[in-house]
Amino acid sequence: MSGAVRRCAVGQVGATIAGGLNQAVNIETNQSEGSCVEGVERTAYLGCFGERTQHAMTTSDQAVETHGLRKLYGGKPAVDGIDLMIPKGSIFGLLGPNGAGKTTTVRMLATLARPDGGEARVLGHDLVREAAALRRRIALTGQFASVDEDLSGQENLVLIGRLLGFSRKGARARAEELLEAFGIADAANKQAKSYSGGMRRRLDIASSLVTTPELLFLDEPTTGLDPRSRNQVWDIIRRLTAAGTTVLLTTQYLEEADQLADRIAVIDHGRMIAEGTSTELKASVGAGALHVRLAEPGRREAAQTILEKALGVTVEFDSEPRRLNAMVPDDASAGHALAALADAGIAVSDFSLGQPSLDEVFFALTGHHTETETPVAAEAVSKEAAQ
Ligand SMILES: Nc1ncnc2c1ncn2[C@@H]1O[C@H](COP(=O)(O)OP(=O)(O)OP(=O)(O)O)[C@@H](O)[C@H]1O
Ligand SMILES: [Mg+2]
Repeated sequence: MSGAVRRCAVGQVGATIAGGLNQAVNIETNQSEGSCVEGVERTAYLGCFGERTQHAMTTSDQAVETHGLRKLYGGKPAVDGIDLMIPKGSIFGLLGPNGAGKTTTVRMLATLARPDGGEARVLGHDLVREAAALRRRIALTGQFASVDEDLSGQENLVLIGRLLGFSRKGARARAEELLEAFGIADAANKQAKSYSGGMRRRLDIASSLVTTPELLFLDEPTTGLDPRSRNQVWDIIRRLTAAGTTVLLTTQYLEEADQLADRIAVIDHGRMIAEGTSTELKASVGAGALHVRLAEPGRREAAQTILEKALGVTVEFDSEPRRLNAMVPDDASAGHALAALADAGIAVSDFSLGQPSLDEVFFALTGHHTETETPVAAEAVSKEAAQ
């Protein structure tokens, strides 16, 4: 299904074919909705990620604007009234645990699932009434890699280019450009099934960029990747936004949202439980997570009292009997708290101060830990498939 959006950037293809890669051209293109003729102007060449069209009709500064967006599956809300404002040119992070409603939100905004309630405008288009026009301007890299495993990286990209209307030569040129930019040129002629997870993910993202979209949805782009591959994907995302593409990414990692996103929305059970910049989010949940392991488990209660007094926050017992965890307001307070333990003669075998995990963010925001999702009725799945 994700390919349906990716392969719908028909308006852009015209510009690419007519203009070649380095020229700015003006093309009039008939949109299917209404009788308007929309002026499409291609921006100057901005490198591999800059082949982008700008639609004169859209005047809002917001790439995405939703009010009370809802989706039900089997009568139960998967997305339960979400309000989003995503400025153009920004990276927006949708952070949430399994089953929070991230993919469902993305699927609605990318026109792949019909909302059951609320309002949404994406790039100025109504999601339902102007879906076809919107599809020409967006791309989606879904949660699970959708490359053709039996084809090589080069063949995958050429295939998509051809489906999008590129000439044989144009598709090959664009494929080469992308393979180079995504660091997979050396494996261009190898079957995708031989690629590592990171390479496959990069090829998957590259497939969404055969024509550069104005808005790119990335559903958990780095889940399952090792740190090096994750950094490569982060780099790609940063370069994309530097060239003007708006990115909406979903993630389960606070660190990823923190590294990339201008604003972050935390969602759980289809509802937004926090929204703001990373700094704002940290101000409400604490700057870092302090984990302390004691030399003797018998001192845990005493350590808890001392740490709570020194930090001024709740200190939790970990499931591991010698460990305590707390969200700390700043690094200095963590130092004071450890010194207080030493003064009281409580030995610490090790400690760490790092980014809070998603679970710790949740606990700080909601007072409860993240839960394992309860899938909604199976019959709803078949209903959705039939839509
Ligand atoms: N097509 C569908 N049919 C029925 N239920 C669905 C469908 N898609 C999602 N759901 C349900 O809606 C809820 C939200 O799912 P969604 O996939 O949006 O969560 P998510 O945040 O993307 O989770 P994950 O991190 O596991 O990908 C879950 O309870 C899920 O089981
Ligand atoms: Mg998902």
